[in-house]
Amino acid sequence: MKHKFPENFWWGAATSGPQSEGRFNKKHRSVFDYWYDTEPDAFFDRVGPNVASNFYNSFREDFKMMKSIGFNSFRTSIQWTRLIKDFETAEVEADAVRFYNEVIDECISNGMIPVMNLHHFDLPVELYEKYGGWESKHVVDLFAKYAKVCFDLFGDRVKHWTTFNEPIVIVQGEYLNQFHYPNIVDGKKAVQVSYNLNLASAKAIEEFKKNENNKGGRIGIVLNLTPAYPRSDSEEDLAASDFANKFHNRMFLDPAVLGHFPEGLAEVFEKDGVLWQSSSEEMELIRNNKVDFLGVNFYQPLRVKVREHELDESKTGWLPDKYYEYYEMPGRRVNPHKNWEIYPEAMYDIAINIRDNYGNIPWYVSENGMGVYGEEKFKDENGMIVDDYRIDFVTEHLEFLHKGIEEGSNCFGYHLWTPIDCWSWMNAYRNRYGFISLDLATQIKTIKKSGYWFKDVAENNGF
Ligand code: BG6
Repeated sequence: MKHKFPENFWWGAATSGPQSEGRFNKKHRSVFDYWYDTEPDAFFDRVGPNVASNFYNSFREDFKMMKSIGFNSFRTSIQWTRLIKDFETAEVEADAVRFYNEVIDECISNGMIPVMNLHHFDLPVELYEKYGGWESKHVVDLFAKYAKVCFDLFGDRVKHWTTFNEPIVIVQGEYLNQFHYPNIVDGKKAVQVSYNLNLASAKAIEEFKKNENNKGGRIGIVLNLTPAYPRSDSEEDLAASDFANKFHNRMFLDPAVLGHFPEGLAEVFEKDGVLWQSSSEEMELIRNNKVDFLGVNFYQPLRVKVREHELDESKTGWLPDKYYEYYEMPGRRVNPHKNWEIYPEAMYDIAINIRDNYGNIPWYVSENGMGVYGEEKFKDENGMIVDDYRIDFVTEHLEFLHKGIEEGSNCFGYHLWTPIDCWSWMNAYRNRYGFISLDLATQIKTIKKSGYWFKDVAENNGF
């Protein structure tokens, strides 16, 4: 076999609570539930999170299907808005406790390691309305309380936790690029929220470490790493990519793994009058509560160049874009359904970066994948989607990952986004990512060609 992976390598896929469960029996609304209720036209085909992929009702059958295509591990998230009845006291909802207990037990009994994430873009809208959401340190403390409850309830069986999924996307979506409610453009708030999310992650880790129930467990964070490649080696392009890398990757990666923010970043914020409010006690807490492992989501690289025209701050206020511009590389390969560049080589660069600059911390690919619009047209006569493009995409990424592992990077798994086609924020069910397809109207789930292919890879621990 050409590409053999390390022993006990994780093979599986990831989803999240708000994208798979449906809102059945959920008493509170997340910012996305609220946004859909008030502005359904913002969502592709007006499809919201109400039913999603029905995981709340169908998780037993779903796990059977996942097992049948070779998974030994699976990630989802707990919904804060499902589990907690009262956000201030962290009193729980009995039905949610029953549900998550059953999900965890069923996952384990199907031979899959459950990875539970605590937050996947699903802030309770009530906490935004009352306190400004992640702008508020009170919300940071409420998150730590919620995390503690999760460890108390499920830490005996869940041995792999992550605090956040893609925290930079919360910053971009809510405060910079308007794709998460409340769709604000405010660079200064974006900086404070970035800091607060780092603090919230560290506080959850502190709770994790204190908790007897977590014996033998590990906690990490899931970051979407988008290596920043400069257009050229000119000093200006290099400076642009250095800042973009600090803002988009290292602002979360460095505190999580090294316990401090990247050198020079706070200085830029301070010079520009947008520095976060922090205290030395909080910085100490971040220093003392680093992750045990890292989850890395990789979809596309970040190509940047120096700005060709100065940002007009009188119109936009301060924005990180002041220091770089996106660059579309001529001849790049793209996934036309998303207009995202396909660059599997970055998987190797990520592996080596973690090996050399982040103490070779244990990590796994927590998401990778290819979203495709209109996959039904690839159905064969038996109703199976023949997604050779996905098989090629995953193969190429695994090849570069394998090269990184051969050269000593400490990667312990690969998860696709996602097991079963799931709901995805504003894009709803536009782009399909799963190994298993979902017929939205009937909720019938069918394994795609890539699912059968993956089973072989998982069973052989390579290809
Ligand atoms: C990932 C997120 O970055 O992208 C997922 O973690 C999301 O939550 C996925 O669903 C795909 O996004 P989209 O918009 O292409 O469906």
